Amino acid sequence: MPIKMPIILGVFNQKGGVGKSLVTSIVAEYAAIKANMNVLVVDLDMQCNSSDYWVGMENSPQSTGGQLPPIHPDYIEDDEDFSDVEARSTIADTFYGKEVLAYETYIKPDNGFKGKVDCLLGHPALLEKINTEFSNESGQIEEKVINRLKEVLLNEFVGGEYDLVVLDTGPSRNPIFRSAIRCATHACIPFEPEEKSMQGINAMVQVIQSENFSRNSAQQLNLIGLIPNKVRINTNLHKGTLDMLQNRLGSIMLPDDLFLPHSTAFPERDLKGINPRSIFQISKHHTALKHSETLCHYILNDMFGKSVITKRLAK
Ligand SMILES: Nc1ncnc2c1ncn2[C@@H]1O[C@H](COP(=O)(O)OP(=O)(O)O)[C@@H](O)[C@H]1O
Ligand SMILES: [Mg+2]
Repeated sequence: MPIKMPIILGVFNQKGGVGKSLVTSIVAEYAAIKANMNVLVVDLDMQCNSSDYWVGMENSPQSTGGQLPPIHPDYIEDDEDFSDVEARSTIADTFYGKEVLAYETYIKPDNGFKGKVDCLLGHPALLEKINTEFSNESGQIEEKVINRLKEVLLNEFVGGEYDLVVLDTGPSRNPIFRSAIRCATHACIPFEPEEKSMQGINAMVQVIQSENFSRNSAQQLNLIGLIPNKVRINTNLHKGTLDMLQNRLGSIMLPDDLFLPHSTAFPERDLKGINPRSIFQISKHHTALKHSETLCHYILNDMFGKSVITKRLAK
């Protein structure tokens, strides 16, 4: 059997609130629900929106960020098998050389899905600690830290278990962000189509270019494209900005019809206890669903190849 390496999609933008966590969740859901894939979501943002969305964080007013990840349901205290993992197991632990346990989500075979989504949770206090602890006084980050996620995620063990890994990232250029850039095989950049978003886009494109200077030609970080989000396509502002971007940055813009519209159907999915949970389970006539499907189909085609995805969607 040939070694199967995971495809790792990083969702990046140094601006907050542009839809990184949203894009992370819809790509993961589409891959698992529609393309029957096994997906691992990794929450690298101190705000832990993905952890909360997928598994649920515990409120903890006295902790940094006001939230704590829950204790892993399989964890047994004082058990030898768990000697190297934390009870609240999070991706932060890997930066201290510990093992980390993925949490199951509602998308799993037991609930009638062919694929699954598992999640490596974030930890507000620990992720913050890593980001301060691992940059030295001159602001430089140790190579060891930058390569850490790659060692943990980009290997045949993760590839054997998962078809796709999606990295939800935070808005600042800290050690964990750098580690995500180093580890990703593919990247996408959600943004809001307004003039002020240009700065963030340019910064991200530069980061990806400079990462690619340090990689050999067979392992380039592949930028799938800029994903316009919260789009009101009938407004002059959004239509004008998107036309301007197609002119200036055509090669990294997605085709014209690929964007996510502004829709309350997206934030509604964040409500606790909401049913259906996924955008892919709402009415098939809903514009938010149609745009999400077209977008995710395009992203998966780009990462896996059209023939693989056509077969998987037909399963
Ligand atoms: N297309 C959209 N329409 C309406 N609300 C959206 C849309 N995209 C994102 N949102 C909402 O905007 C907020 C920020 O989105 P989020 O994905 O968390 O951004 P980021 O992860 O980049 O900070 C969230 O409350 C989210 O539900
Ligand atoms: Mg987010």
